[in-house]
Amino acid sequence: MRDRTDDVAANGFTDHVLVCTTARDGEHACCADAGGPAVYDAVTEWLRERGVFWSRVHVAETSCLGLCSAGGAAVAIHPRGRWYSDVEPRDVPELLAAEFGDDATRLGVCDASPQ
Ligand code: FES
Repeated sequence: MRDRTDDVAANGFTDHVLVCTTARDGEHACCADAGGPAVYDAVTEWLRERGVFWSRVHVAETSCLGLCSAGGAAVAIHPRGRWYSDVEPRDVPELLAAEFGDDATRLGVCDASPQ
């Protein structure tokens, strides 16, 4: 095991966008069926359009965030502690602009309320 905390703090990520893409069989809703993969694609596209994909923001598909809904995917943005459910691909530009600014200039700005 390597402790990379200092390395990441100095040179690594300031923001993480976690998009649930969990698939499951059964009676309960899951983000894969609610468009999670398309939401993930919309997030990466929005960041690419602003030239900040593969920068200090890291996007990851994640397993269940505990906000399961048939109405859309769950998204968490850390370390700012923001949680969304029922996210559809069409919601992503507004969501990310509210968090990071229209031009993604607020990456690493960790206040609790989106602008
Ligand atoms: S399956 Fe996505 S939040 Fe539970």
